[in-house]
Amino acid sequence: MPDAPSLKTTRLLLRPFQPSDAAGIQRLAGTKEVAVGTFLPHPYDHGMAEQWIADRQRASDEGIAVSFAITLVDDATFIGSIGLDIVPIHRHARLSYWLGVPYWNRGYATEALRAVLGYGFRQLNLHRIYSPHFEGNAASGRVLQKVGMRYEGRMRAHYIRFDRFVDLELYGMLQQEFTERTGKTSTDGTR
Ligand SMILES: CC(C)(COP(=O)(O)OP(=O)(O)OC[C@H]1O[C@@H](n2cnc3c(N)ncnc32)[C@H](O)[C@@H]1OP(=O)(O)O)[C@@H](O)C(=O)NCCC(=O)NCCS
Repeated sequence: MPDAPSLKTTRLLLRPFQPSDAAGIQRLAGTKEVAVGTFLPHPYDHGMAEQWIADRQRASDEGIAVSFAITLVDDATFIGSIGLDIVPIHRHARLSYWLGVPYWNRGYATEALRAVLGYGFRQLNLHRIYSPHFEGNAASGRVLQKVGMRYEGRMRAHYIRFDRFVDLELYGMLQQEFTERTGKTSTDGTR
């Protein structure tokens, strides 16, 4: 699989990660607010971000992942991460994302998800993209609803996070549903 390109939306540039993003990842992903919605390590120690960038590059080279640094078009500020973990034999992928707390509730995640859904369905020709979120993560559920993903059900006590069992709320979208929703006119996934 070729390296993921950069994806431009109205306010965001989603671009490949670079080693120099490590400090920003550690700072933004290291907060408890971000950690509770994800499996990001907490505390987020020195060296972990460098290792994660290298791991994601290796997975990208193997064709089983794509990862984008979410940055602001205006000033290139790094604000978060979004990516797909791909199972090529099934043509499906799991979508994961987080934003630093200062950038919440401005519609950035919704904008980034639309772009990555477009990339996954159009460029990667995936058949299905799904995204689970932990119970109680209403903001994540709302984002998935806003981009048109369908609620598929609850996986009860599926994971242990911070020493307690948590339910997963599962959302998914099929390629055909994406095409019907967006039409064929947009090429950047922003609508
Ligand atoms: C989930 C997350 C990515 C959302 O990012 P964001 O850029 O703030 O999302 P958006 O601004 O595009 O949309 C957020 C929506 O959730 C709503 N929302 C925010 N907090 C909410 C809450 N506590 N209850 C209900 N809705 C909430 C917002 O009002 C908005 O909906 P609206 O446009 O209808 O008003 C961000 O909160 C985050 O990084 N959280 C920590 C990591 C995480 O949970 N990642 C997802 C793992 S599945």
